Amino acid sequence: MKVFAGNSNRLLAEAICNYLNLPLGKATVRRFADQEIFVEIQENVRGEDVFLVQSTSFPTNDHLMELLIMIDAMRRSSARRITAVIPYFGYARQDRKPGPRTPISAKLVANLITEAGADRVLTLDLHAGQIQGFFDIPTDNLYAVPILSRDVKENYDLKNVMVVSPDVGGVVRARALAKRLDCQLAIVDKRRERAGESEVMNVIGDVTGKDCLLIDDIVDSGGTLCNAAEALLKNGATSVTAYITHGVLSGGAVARVTSSKLKELVITDSIQPTTAVQSAHNIRVISTASLIGEAINRTSQEESVSSLFD
Ligand code: R5P
Repeated sequence: MKVFAGNSNRLLAEAICNYLNLPLGKATVRRFADQEIFVEIQENVRGEDVFLVQSTSFPTNDHLMELLIMIDAMRRSSARRITAVIPYFGYARQDRKPGPRTPISAKLVANLITEAGADRVLTLDLHAGQIQGFFDIPTDNLYAVPILSRDVKENYDLKNVMVVSPDVGGVVRARALAKRLDCQLAIVDKRRERAGESEVMNVIGDVTGKDCLLIDDIVDSGGTLCNAAEALLKNGATSVTAYITHGVLSGGAVARVTSSKLKELVITDSIQPTTAVQSAHNIRVISTASLIGEAINRTSQEESVSSLFD
């Protein structure tokens, strides 16, 4: 088995290698003067079981292209099997046609990864589980829930915790955590009037005096989260913390979170944290390296990956 990384999340790739007790494979991903990407694999991969770690996070198109070119380089170097390890799968929110004459970009990206030559995909908390079906190659979708629930148990008195979904679409994800923690569940009924804006409407459930834990897959602008936090506090919650798998945190999101009433935003390292994220007083990053490392190990040994979540 060999593990390589593009430029999107080298810190996580190194941590995964640390878990696996392997050196990170030698490869360079560089730019020509016109910004075309050039990849060179600097060690033999003939007959190897290769894992390429690359999140398709901002700048999404560059990181996606790096991944595609790395897969091509591996295929042409006779790797036996290539697994694209994509801790954050960008374009996932474009998983259906929102209107006439619009694309399904998540499917296009899945096609590109497959056509480039990936044999398998390993990813984490896909925005919608059915995106697995966009790939005609084996795709393992890992869940951050075990890592998040461990952190909750270490930091909260579960007797007073209420798990909250920030919108109706996230109820299944929030219920999974509530079940694991044996806690109650509430829902914020959000109505989005215009793309990029969110408006909180209603809290379903009694959150009075509760430590609320908002659960979601993505924090992007931070609007959904901060509006939900306001609504919960207005409805009598004692505190609001957010546990979100993918810290996309575009534009002014970090400033929005730091100036919000959120006690803490806990994200994973599926997207490499920026310096702004690292220095934010109420954002904490927890690592997925052991989870992803173990899934890589089991894939390589042809062992069960789903049993990681039993
Ligand atoms: C939406 O369906 C997702 O699960 C997130 O709730 C959304 O992407 C968060 O976006 P933002 O932080 O921009 O409100």
